[in-house]
Amino acid sequence: MRLLLIGAPGAGKGTQADRIAAHFGVVHISSGDLLRKHVADGTAIGRAAREYMDRGELVPNTLVLDMLRKPVVAAANAGGYVLDGFPRTVEQAEAAYGVAKELGVAVQLAILLDVKREELISRLLARGETSGRSDDNAETIERRQQVYEEQTAPLLEYYRQRERLIIVNGDRPVDEVTWSVVVQVQRAAKQLTE
Ligand code: AP5
Repeated sequence: MRLLLIGAPGAGKGTQADRIAAHFGVVHISSGDLLRKHVADGTAIGRAAREYMDRGELVPNTLVLDMLRKPVVAAANAGGYVLDGFPRTVEQAEAAYGVAKELGVAVQLAILLDVKREELISRLLARGETSGRSDDNAETIERRQQVYEEQTAPLLEYYRQRERLIIVNGDRPVDEVTWSVVVQVQRAAKQLTE
């Protein structure tokens, strides 16, 4: 099972990826969590990524692709993955597909968590009161939403054209969203193998 979660900042990608990965017994890989770990550890990747993250901009592709290659291949070989936060642009999707297809580890299904903008902003402002995340402030939250609309939303058409896109209403209680994703993935996975 090789899945990908797409959604605007605050849509619940991290929350749902944890639960879906546990349900299917695969590994949750979050590009944002990995980048924050690099920043906290002061690695070369972290030092290069930090200013982009603080501004709510995307980190350059080469850094992200280099960081993810090993964990994604390892997870795929160990049974699968739920990717959260990558790819974030059509360019990233195409670059990753080129490598992943040859290795037989390409994404099978992309799941959009669809949540309206007011709810996204209110979730992130609420989290910002306690999270300590440098990008959970009003100005950067706004910029992250714009970056999603401009650079990530085109990915939906990319996966729709490949008949790999599942759309889930993410504006419901956490358990309901998880259940809806699991049911739709099981249905789609059956068709993939038929
Ligand atoms: P990343 O860590 O991916 O952050 P994000 O996309 O901004 O998303 P969030 O983590 O804020 O939200 P989420 O959708 O995961 O929701 P969550 O479950 O946390 O990226 C951070 C930065 O890293 C980027 O801006 C960029 O700089 C860089 N980066 C990462 N990947 C990159 C890439 N591929 N290329 C380039 N740069 C990259 O939930 C949010 C809140 O809502 C929580 O408080 C949660 O408890 C709550 N919540 C969740 N679900 C529900 C629900 N159903 N109902 C009510 N509340 C809910």
